[in-house]
Amino acid sequence: MDTRARYGDPEFWEAYYTDKTIPFDWYITFDRFQELFFEHFPSGDENILECGCGTSDLAIKLRGYDYPNVKCIDVSQNAITIAQQQCIVNSLHVDIECFDALNLSQEEGAQYDVVIDKGLLDCFFCADDSYHKIHRYLTGVSHVLKPGGKFVLITSGGKQDRKCFVLKPEYKWELDAEETIALPIVRERAPLYQPGMKCCHLFIIQKSS
Ligand SMILES: C[S@@+](CC[C@H](N)C(=O)[O-])C[C@H]1O[C@@H](n2cnc3c(N)ncnc32)[C@H](O)[C@@H]1O
Repeated sequence: MDTRARYGDPEFWEAYYTDKTIPFDWYITFDRFQELFFEHFPSGDENILECGCGTSDLAIKLRGYDYPNVKCIDVSQNAITIAQQQCIVNSLHVDIECFDALNLSQEEGAQYDVVIDKGLLDCFFCADDSYHKIHRYLTGVSHVLKPGGKFVLITSGGKQDRKCFVLKPEYKWELDAEETIALPIVRERAPLYQPGMKCCHLFIIQKSS
């Protein structure tokens, strides 16, 4: 199989996480976009879903900043086990579940004020049958967002390319804010990084009321 295609394959991720025992954040850590996050989500009461959480400590940081309603999902049970251990170490409760984000459309609709994706949509772009998976995933994200809720997408893809795929009228949302953020120099353990990648893009996309 083509190397990039593996990033869309759950079995690749399950194997990837077998020897990873410490938290790791792809692209950027929360501190690189926390000001923008606090500006858009000031109350702390928001119901938040993080899709494809991996072993990132984003949810733990959100809990630490008094966002108590955070749920994380990932398709890899190994990643979930590591993430749960990190919560125990930090004495914080986060609802973490092994769940395929391609099945979000089957969940109860309009549950979340915020859906966060840091690196998951990029995996679907690498997958076999990518168009179908991207559409299925974005349909699911829109389905679980409340009217007026926001999708925070952090992606290493080309800015215009991602906008073309994500900002389609059928998802019933619009771009609210965008920012380009420089990537850190240290990128070990992160096979999605391509030579020459210097930044990622953050989009805040708001569902229609
Ligand atoms: C590039 S990593 C990003 C991890 C984390 N969000 C971060 O920023 O460090 C992509 C994550 O998406 C997960 N993933 C891949 N396919 C998935 C799917 N269908 N449903 C849920 N999670 C998935 C992988 O297991 C992996 O943890």
